[in-house]
Amino acid sequence: MSIGPLDSDAVESYREAGAILVETMNEAREMIEPGVTQLEVAEYAEDAIREAGAGLAFPVNISVDEAASHATPARDDDTEFGEEMICLDIGVHVDGYIADAAVTVDYTGSDDLVEASETALEAAVEAVAPGVPAGEVGGAIENAIESYGYTPILNLTGHGVERYDAHTGPSIPNRAVDRSVELEVGDVLAIEPFATDGRGKVGEGATEEIYEQVGDGSVRDRRARQVMDELEAFDDLPFAARWLDSSRSEMALRTLKNAEIVKGYPVLKEADGQLISQAEHTMIVTEDGCEVTTAGIHDFD
Ligand code: CO
Repeated sequence: MSIGPLDSDAVESYREAGAILVETMNEAREMIEPGVTQLEVAEYAEDAIREAGAGLAFPVNISVDEAASHATPARDDDTEFGEEMICLDIGVHVDGYIADAAVTVDYTGSDDLVEASETALEAAVEAVAPGVPAGEVGGAIENAIESYGYTPILNLTGHGVERYDAHTGPSIPNRAVDRSVELEVGDVLAIEPFATDGRGKVGEGATEEIYEQVGDGSVRDRRARQVMDELEAFDDLPFAARWLDSSRSEMALRTLKNAEIVKGYPVLKEADGQLISQAEHTMIVTEDGCEVTTAGIHDFD
């Protein structure tokens, strides 16, 4: 069955991507515990998605404590999970149709911070319907998070997804701002409330392990050209530095960045170094509300 401008193949692919994501997420989150390495979990999930016949919409994000997003293990990374707050954010695509969802696994004892972003996501899902301004969804998120005494992250927003594009409009704020854009039937939204006990802003950290091809220029350097060939497999979607062939790719990536063929995504961190929790679902806006394609990973599902 088609939904608005989405034909039935597109709808089925969105659902399949969601189902693969849910299964992978629920296995990967169970692996997370102190002493296990981040790389084991990331590679387990990425392999499971590929084995299911789907693609990665972006590298598995594992963002710890004050990190909100864009963190993924480096090549040969031996960082182990500790008594931390861990946001696990996974993106799957089937034929380019994307599911994007996140859960928070907490070993810090801050259950209510995790609950705040979960409750906010539930409120957002309830608020989504055609004709609803994006800012109204943001207001529902803000109210839910503030009812726990926490602050939503202002400069991180939910977003639309389109075929082979993990980040498009409309942007779904985590506060009651930007009221003008109205949701439409067939919009596919990744809504992701972030809650913190800090000020509610993220800034860029120093680490950068996720990249995306943004241009097609030419470079002289042979190794950089080899890396460019490798990039074709990623369909212009974000990729991890560790997915590239060898460790020498680090310099090639710098060359491609300077040539504006590739851009990097630095890790985003809470400005005060405070804990951040995240909850995310992907949903298709329908005539009478929305269909969550990633249902089955949050308590309220
Ligand atoms: Co996500």
